[in-house]
Order: sequence, then structure tokens, then C-alpha cells
Amino acid sequence: MDRVLSLRCIDCGFEHGIQERSVTCRRCGGLLDVVYDYDAVVDEMERSGWERRPLGVWRYEELLPVLRPELKVTLGEGGTRLVRCRRLGEELGLRDLYVKHEGGNPTGSFKDRGMTVGVTKALEFGAKTLICASTGNTAASLAAYSARAGLRCLVLLPKGKVALGKLAQASIHGAVIIAVRGGFDEALDLVRRLAERPEYYLLNSINPYRLEGQKTAAYEVYEQLGGMPDWLIIPVGNAGNISAYWKGFRELNLVGMSEGLPRMVGVQAEGASPIVEAFKRRTSEIEPFRRVETLATAIRIGRPVNWKRALNAIYESRGLAEAVSDEEILKAQRLLASKEGLFVEPASATPIAYLVRAMGDGAIDRDETVVCVATGHGLKDPEAAMRQAPKPLEAGADLMEIERLLNRAWKR
Ligand SMILES: Cc1ncc(COP(=O)(O)O)c(C=O)c1O
Ligand SMILES: [Zn+2]
Repeated sequence: MDRVLSLRCIDCGFEHGIQERSVTCRRCGGLLDVVYDYDAVVDEMERSGWERRPLGVWRYEELLPVLRPELKVTLGEGGTRLVRCRRLGEELGLRDLYVKHEGGNPTGSFKDRGMTVGVTKALEFGAKTLICASTGNTAASLAAYSARAGLRCLVLLPKGKVALGKLAQASIHGAVIIAVRGGFDEALDLVRRLAERPEYYLLNSINPYRLEGQKTAAYEVYEQLGGMPDWLIIPVGNAGNISAYWKGFRELNLVGMSEGLPRMVGVQAEGASPIVEAFKRRTSEIEPFRRVETLATAIRIGRPVNWKRALNAIYESRGLAEAVSDEEILKAQRLLASKEGLFVEPASATPIAYLVRAMGDGAIDRDETVVCVATGHGLKDPEAAMRQAPKPLEAGADLMEIERLLNRAWKR
């Protein structure tokens, strides 16, 4: 498989062979990046007839590091809609606003793109038990793909800080769930230690294969739009997804499919925004947040493992990192739901929350093309939605009573 060259450490540059099972650098513990020979990729693409495959992660098989495609574990991930939002765009003063609706994935979030590749690799390595720490969606997705692959799954979650729908998913798919009295960052420290044992295989976004699957969303955005957007706005938690999109966009240039690149905007919740703080200081190091709080529990992370890649994406693309308040997030969630019929979870509303502000202060021009990534479905977290949604009116089984209620309701 000569198109996949090595796994290179992003810190010390040490190259590992492509059969390497360790998810971090053997020399320094740094994160690994899958390195390709793009000439060989282009050669294979020219022969494979990839354009005839349906939109989705596996359309881009030549740009994925899978060595044994017959082991593929799939539920039909990717190929999500890029929804043009005319009504919301008009309200915000933007001509070309799109939302990449990642809630349309099999388990309702973008995590499935990474898991289909990551769990396939786990089978290649002969792993039996897959583990992760999670704010919820990673657990839901890993549990589903483990079930599909017939493997055991263990997830560590921050106790009391995981949305109900995600918990239900992990549980029904048969994962062993441990609620850790602590935050996500502590849960991740624990699974990283567990993963030192040979029987466990780690599938957090430290795992280089997760990001390889996730980068396909960038290819899809490019194909669906018929070109590069001017801006890509994306929520940031552990910072894997923004890193994956950036790699995807750059690779489109490297295989000669496109020219130019979008400016990347990473959006965090105010109560968990170490990357935004580093960006505002214009430094290349983050200061972790020891205490984190936000109702956008998916991105309630104080020490993002992929911070270095995320800052690189933002600086290299002349992008931005911005923080939004919980209040702005809820408002944006409702705006998207009521103007466009798109129900996303709170974390996924952060790009819209930022846009509301950006259009007010002129950071983005009305003629520019903007893609917001809606990372997860709103049904994941019904409690957050119900906190702000109007309660149902109640009536007896009586038409007169209903008409009286309606008279009042339409006046509001
Ligand atoms: C819905 C949702 N949005 C955004 C994120 C953040 O993604 P990343 O950790 O790759 O930055 C997550 C991560 O759990 C998520 O579940
Ligand atoms: Zn290293």
C-alpha cells in the first residue's frame, strides 16, 4: 500500500511504520499524523472511478489509510446535506449561508466519520475492546460501531454532564459505561492510562485514524458547493474536527482538485475557551482551563488534546477563534430551528451564535460564502432545548377551550 507512507509525530517528526498500533509517538508521546504519497493517491484515483461512488466517507477511499477494506465497519456515514439557509442568511445579512448538517449521520453526529475508519483499523490490529473518554457523542458513536463490529466497548464519561440522548445511545448499544466523578479531561487521562494495556484500543481523537475519517467532510463541502467557501465556522472542543477539516481542505489542493483555502473560525463556549484565549494573545501555546462550565456539554473541555493542530489551522488560514456565551448559544439554536427547520444541539449552534455577532461588527462580508458546521443533532439533548422552548399549552378534550387558547396563542 504505497500511497500510505507513515505515521509522523507532529512534535518530534519521528516516523512510524504504517502497521504501528500505538496511537501516539513511541519516542515522545506526541500526536501522529498519517502521511501520504499524493502522487500515488492521484494515480489510484485516476484508475478507481471514485467519482461514481455515492457521497460519503468511503467515496474517498484512496485518501484513507485503510489497508484491508474487506474489514470495513460501516453504517453509511457522511454524505450529509449541505443546506442552503436563505431565510437565516437574509436575517443575518449574508447572501450565501450554508449549514453542513452532520446530525444526519447514523448516530446523529460527525463522530461517525471518524469511527467508521477508526473501528475498521481496530479490526485490522486485531483489537477486542475499544475504549474512549467522551462528552457524549464519541461514546454514542463508538458504542454503535463496536456493536456493528462485534467488539467490546468501554466509555468513561464525566458524571452528570452528558446529554440524555447520548447516554441512551451508548447504553442501548451495549457499552460498559463508567460515570467518572470529574470532568472530561480527567476521564481522558484515565483512558489514556488504560490504553497502555494491550487488550484495549483507544478511539479518542488522539487516534490519528479518527481524524482521517473526519477530514472527508471537507471534501464533501467542496464538492457540494462546487468550490471552496470563504469561511468555515466550526465548534471546537477537543479540537480534532477543526484539525481534520483543515487537513481535508489542504489535501484537495495537494491532489490538484482545488485551489485556494477557506478561512477557519473555531468557536468555543466562553466557559471552556483555552484556544480562543491563546488566539487573542497571539501565542502558539494554550493555558488549560482548570474549571470549565457551559450548557454546551459536548465542548465542555479545558485541555483540548488537538490544540496545536487547531491553532495551526486558524493561524495558517488567517482565521479566527471566538468565544460565545451560553445565552448566545441558546438564542442561535432557536434561530436555526425556527428559521430553517434545522434542530442542532447547543454545541452545534456556536457557529451561528458567532455569526450573529460577526455580521453585526462587519468581520464577515455579506457577499462571502459561509459554511457553518452543525456537528450534532438537537435530539441528542432534549433537555437543553426544553429549557428555552415554550411549554405546550394544555386543554381539555373540548373545541371551545382549544379555540380560546388559540386566540391567545396567535396574538403572542
Ligand atoms: C456536537 C459536538 N460538537 C463539537 C464537538 C467538538 O469537536 P472536537 O472535540 O473535535 O473539537 C463535539 C465533541 O464531542 C461534539 O460532540
Ligand atoms: Zn514524537
